[in-house]
Amino acid sequence: MSIGIVGWGFYVPDKILTNADLEKMVDTTDEWITTRTGIKTRRIAPSDMAVSDMAAAAAQRALDKCGLSAKQIDVIIVATITPDMFFPSSACFVQSKIGAENAACFDVSAACSGFIYALELGRNFLCNKKYKNVMVIGAEKLSVITDWQDRGTCVLFGDGAGAVILSEVKSGGIISCYLGSDGTQSELLFLPGGGSRNPASEDTVKNKMHFLKMRGNELFKFAVRIMADSAEEVLKQAGLKKSDIKYLIPHQANSRIIWATAKKLDLDESQVFVNIDRYGNMSSASSAVALCEILESKDIKRGDKLLMVAFGGGLTWGSSIIEVS
Ligand code: ACO
Repeated sequence: MSIGIVGWGFYVPDKILTNADLEKMVDTTDEWITTRTGIKTRRIAPSDMAVSDMAAAAAQRALDKCGLSAKQIDVIIVATITPDMFFPSSACFVQSKIGAENAACFDVSAACSGFIYALELGRNFLCNKKYKNVMVIGAEKLSVITDWQDRGTCVLFGDGAGAVILSEVKSGGIISCYLGSDGTQSELLFLPGGGSRNPASEDTVKNKMHFLKMRGNELFKFAVRIMADSAEEVLKQAGLKKSDIKYLIPHQANSRIIWATAKKLDLDESQVFVNIDRYGNMSSASSAVALCEILESKDIKRGDKLLMVAFGGGLTWGSSIIEVS
């Protein structure tokens, strides 16, 4: 049974934050941000827009693309580390906004690898033949967990959402998927405040514990190794060669990580999809939006194989090969 993508859509907020804007906020330069990260602009959601608002906009575009009605969606999975609230899940809010009254809804937390985790979950829901259409969304409002006074992190992140609809397809589809985690390295990237370990208090606010903490250098080294290893592993599982891949869609964390991964995999620059310059790192939404932009492009035809690979907090990693249906 082949499970593939039949609809897709993404949404990014209108507000553009440039490197020049950041120069006025922290001690940084356009030159530093561009050469160290590859980022020029990122999108920032307004204060009254939550993750489910962006996710629902992307979801509606995915429905419009394939002509399915919201009532035909059986499952909604939202990958996010910035949900509207602890509960209900952001997926339930999306359900309500788009009118997907027949769907079972839940969120997945696997940081930047979340969309690839959710894709694999969605595929498994469909493989048991009980469900027909699964909506998988990667959506983040990272701007609310970013410390806008910390130049080491605030230049990196942005907001957005991407959605795909998975169904049975006659040709192509998701060929293989590889997922992994290493919980012993959780201190490289985490959000200490607000959960059951450090519930919100005056102290957690004062100590900036509701903002993302990151050990950038160590993550960088881990990322370059795991992105290449994970891509190799999923190719092996699929019985494919690197030359079979039309596009690598790497997680958009840092352009230097992207190019180092491409080099390790012996891929030509033209085979690597990059949108970090426009959006920065949108965590789980990065893979989702990049996949939507690729599927939308005129350069893609049936049978082309796409290799997605991501890493993130957890630590987590994942890779997936999709043949365009
Ligand atoms: N502007 C100017 N200078 C800066 C800035 C900035 N925005 N940020 C840091 N610096 C300075 C540092 O203070 C340091 O100065 P020093 O040498 O005087 O101490 C110098 O630049 C070098 O800092 P490094 O941290 O070594 O810079 P590096 O080249 O490693 O780049 C970066 C930092 C961009 C964060 C990089 O390590 C990286 O991309 N790491 C991976 C991040 C990642 O993948 N995160 C995943 C997040 S996923 C998620 O959050 C959900």
